[in-house]
Amino acid sequence: MCLTAPACWLWPRRAKGCTEMARIDLDLAHAYRPKPQQDSDYALLPLKMSFENGGAYALLGPSGCGKTTMLNLMSGLLQPSQGTVLFDGQDVTRSTPQQRNIAQVFQFPVIYDTMTVAENLGFPLRNRKMPAEQIRKRVGEIAEMLDLSGQLNQRASGLAADAKQKISLGRGLVRSDVSAVLFDEPLTVIDPHLKWQLRRKLKQIHRELKLTLVYVTHDQVEALTFAQQVVVMTRGRAVQMGTAAQLFERPSHTFVGHFIGSPGMNFLPAHMGPQGLQVCGMALPLAAEQADLPHGDLKLGIRPEYVRCAASRFDGALAMQVQQVQDVGTHFIVTASLQEQVFKARLAMMAEPFAVGSTVWCQVLNDKSCFYRNEEIVA
Ligand SMILES: Nc1ncnc2c1ncn2[C@@H]1O[C@H](COP(=O)(O)OP(=O)(O)OP(=O)(O)O)[C@@H](O)[C@H]1O
Ligand SMILES: [Mg+2]
Repeated sequence: MCLTAPACWLWPRRAKGCTEMARIDLDLAHAYRPKPQQDSDYALLPLKMSFENGGAYALLGPSGCGKTTMLNLMSGLLQPSQGTVLFDGQDVTRSTPQQRNIAQVFQFPVIYDTMTVAENLGFPLRNRKMPAEQIRKRVGEIAEMLDLSGQLNQRASGLAADAKQKISLGRGLVRSDVSAVLFDEPLTVIDPHLKWQLRRKLKQIHRELKLTLVYVTHDQVEALTFAQQVVVMTRGRAVQMGTAAQLFERPSHTFVGHFIGSPGMNFLPAHMGPQGLQVCGMALPLAAEQADLPHGDLKLGIRPEYVRCAASRFDGALAMQVQQVQDVGTHFIVTASLQEQVFKARLAMMAEPFAVGSTVWCQVLNDKSCFYRNEEIVA
């Protein structure tokens, strides 16, 4: 970490040999209440996870799953109730955000109302005693990037919510000499078009500066377009870290299958026994490479994109009842039922879509199928 070298301030150039960014290793758990007894007592269940130097990461999951908790543990706003945080191999578990040299953009913007936009943006630089001329230049660049150039001399108090959020974002990006920049849902009140632009800017900044960025969101599109690696979280558990393709192709937990994708993965009850595989009580022939499935009850998972459907029977297909056919412009989403299960298939446009109430034959077992036990992938 580089705390003082003034050359680091010159953006976008960096001083040679100045290793501000850090690899972050978490090996911890956190409970807000003392003496946690059961899983539900933890805001964050025990996890071991590494964030590589210069990587772009997203923490993705529904409200209350522990995203902000994880971010605050990384920044040092919060100390874990057990375990450690390492920056470049050094134990920083008890260090403050300042000592860790972290820039953090909060879910609810923290703005100094009495300062102008320019003063707000330059605040982290003034704090570090950067020369005024350099501050002016850097603030100008950030304001330009965020479409705030016309408002630099305006007081922050009179600004609309989205402008305040942009200032908050700008303050997080204004320094380039940080270990990491952590964003907690930074674009919630920004309109969709600007949101899209800002996401692209963030990606560009990441490419140029190679800063370690961690971005919290509950929006899968935002996470998957911004980050190289996405951590999917549910109920205090970080269930998978992976690329968009990994999360899509091989969800390691049923929650990932269900949460990623639109619509999410289909799950059907399955059983592997001496006679082979049954799905919804019907025998299906396994390919040779699938023959060593663990015996017992399983869940078969298949993405709607990988289901093959036909109006007439074919080998290896299960008969389902068509409930709904949605024309989404570029493709159809067919919703069908099989016993009590609701099943979805995403199909290319067809001249004659399946009629509601008719039987559709769906292939649910192929090389894209995944198998789960206790919600964890087994094959
Ligand atoms: N200061 C706190 N004291 C006690 N419990 C807390 C505190 N902060 C968060 N929690 C609890 O910890 C769990 C995780 O909260 P956290 O804020 O990390 O979730 P989140 O994923 O960021 O949610 P959101 O998307 O709503 O911001 C929740 O059950 C929450 O109620
Ligand atoms: Mg949060």
